[in-house]
Amino acid sequence: MLPRAGPRRASARRFFDRVAAEVAAVPGADTAARQDVLRTLVSPDLVALFEERLPAAARRLAEDREGLTAAVGLYHMVLEGVVLLAGQNAMLDTLDRLSARLPGVRRGVELVLRDERWHIGFGTRLVRAAGLGRDEVEALLALGQAAARAWGALVSPGAADRAVRMHRSRLRALDVKFF
Ligand SMILES: [Fe+2]
Repeated sequence: MLPRAGPRRASARRFFDRVAAEVAAVPGADTAARQDVLRTLVSPDLVALFEERLPAAARRLAEDREGLTAAVGLYHMVLEGVVLLAGQNAMLDTLDRLSARLPGVRRGVELVLRDERWHIGFGTRLVRAAGLGRDEVEALLALGQAAARAWGALVSPGAADRAVRMHRSRLRALDVKFF
């Protein structure tokens, strides 16, 4: 059964857009305009993961069902399991350091993180069921390591390392003679 990622993803997007507009005061009349501003503040590598690599995986999947494991590995294990998890944990760390308390923002990020854990677990189970070979697991590990660095200075090296360690332990659970 596929996760109901659509509606959940849409509500997470609305939440983060509202934080961008009303808390971070990112300029722009609408979501697209604010994204144009935010895009200039992050590394091109981060933008490429979501705006090039992910659509390319989705296109391959539409053409050829064989691309399912690769697409699930990229989306649930790498983008959600490494990149978004590291970013959301960094956001919680930042909230801890602010003098102003923002309980609504914290609660929202915690709810998104809870949802992400479910998606990541789903993706890991699906990738495990696909019985990947050693090369494919190695490629997913390398992709996760590179993706963790895509935040640049926005995520501390410690938080990025933590995300990679969790990624590695999920991959270890795939039962491939690799680690
Ligand atoms: Fe998710």
